[in-house]
Amino acid sequence: MEKKPIKIMETVLRDAHQSLIATRMPTDMMLPIVDKMDKVGYHAVECWGGATFDASLRFLKEDPWERLRKLRDGFKNTKLQMLFRGQNILGYRPYADDVVDSFVEKSIANGIDIIRIFDCLNDLRNLQAAVNATNKIKQREGRGHAQIALSYTLGDAYTLEYWVDMAKKIEEMGADSICIKDMAGLLVPYKASEMIGAMKAATKLPIQLHTHYTSGVASMTYLKAVEAGVDVIDCAISPFAMGTSQPATEVMVETFKGTPYDTGYDQNVLAEIADYFRPYRDECLASGLLNPKVMGVDIKTLLYQVPGGMLSNMVSQLKEQNAEDKYYDVLREIPAVRKDLGEPPLVTPSSQIVGTQAVFNVLMGERYKMATKETKAVLRGEYGQTVKPMSQEVIDKVIPGEKRITCRPADLIENEMDKLESEMKEWKQQEEDVLSYALFPQVATDFFKYRQAQQEKVDMTQADTKNGAYPV
Ligand code: CO
Repeated sequence: MEKKPIKIMETVLRDAHQSLIATRMPTDMMLPIVDKMDKVGYHAVECWGGATFDASLRFLKEDPWERLRKLRDGFKNTKLQMLFRGQNILGYRPYADDVVDSFVEKSIANGIDIIRIFDCLNDLRNLQAAVNATNKIKQREGRGHAQIALSYTLGDAYTLEYWVDMAKKIEEMGADSICIKDMAGLLVPYKASEMIGAMKAATKLPIQLHTHYTSGVASMTYLKAVEAGVDVIDCAISPFAMGTSQPATEVMVETFKGTPYDTGYDQNVLAEIADYFRPYRDECLASGLLNPKVMGVDIKTLLYQVPGGMLSNMVSQLKEQNAEDKYYDVLREIPAVRKDLGEPPLVTPSSQIVGTQAVFNVLMGERYKMATKETKAVLRGEYGQTVKPMSQEVIDKVIPGEKRITCRPADLIENEMDKLESEMKEWKQQEEDVLSYALFPQVATDFFKYRQAQQEKVDMTQADTKNGAYPV
């Protein structure tokens, strides 16, 4: 058999800590190991996007752009990858095209090589602006790779033909590669075999597989996917692998050793990386940041098809309302709400929208007695088109007589960069600050205030008091 070394994207700096410790790994924890990680020969290191941006500003009081620049500085040979929510960028609402353009441009300028772009409804129209923006930079600077990720889910509409058809459309859109993004660990081994085989036959684009260990099948799924021709698999170094995270890098490397799929990675280097992260894992366990509960196999995820993060959100919403006894009622309501809303995949932000509405429906004792702002927006078509039609009965109850849109939602959003900049100009220290503000206006403003206070404090220590000079 011809050699086909399998490639690995390492997720410890993004998805692994997002999935296990609520995205709380600080930049200072990452930097000392970058040099070693750079020697492995990974296909890429995922280190930005998803929830890292929000968590940096909100909880770690770090500038996410600064983190990216520092990582870029350290990774001399390895490609850096980010996760991008299509027209929602890294936020929770659809943005105008000029914000998408600018965000893509600044991401690449600050160090990102590969942008993985997905849409929570798999509406490809919501990905075109980000793909175009990436391709524009690629033509200009020879750097930048647009990967389109399909959010994997189960349901009547999601047939093998659906996935194959999507793969062909992605190729036509001008993307550089395809990712199957299985956020809940629903893709079982033989299904993966069938799906990857069919997609590889339909497209020339490289295919990358992303899954989570939540349901316990992930490493078997990778094995079958590799045999079926997948090009890249997403793994996490062992101390931050398994559970709600990815299969362990070292395990997959060992699995393919001596086969045509041999990665060629050095287990000794991987062991040193694992040694570095292990004490941090222990620290996270001791502080409670890492809950042992998320480390096991959660078979509920196969039963209810709900991603882990969505379950923990739901539990905390119920706790706040003193209604933890309604857990199973809500779990049953989630598929019903999902059906009403056109059976979308459950991934940020559709997972939050469906989950919160399911909680409302159960707690109010009447379905859609109250609908969230986001549920209304989905029903109006503001997030895009779903694979299945939405329930007319629910539309009539929640947004009676309102106009629904069928075009690409962003076609109706006017450019907003100027307006955003004018709102935040007193805090602006770099162009990127406007984008931080665009995504999280309140959180970013709080961060800007914190940053200024820090800078003033630092400046005071350097003040030349004798000559009365106070740098400001
Ligand atoms: Co993931």
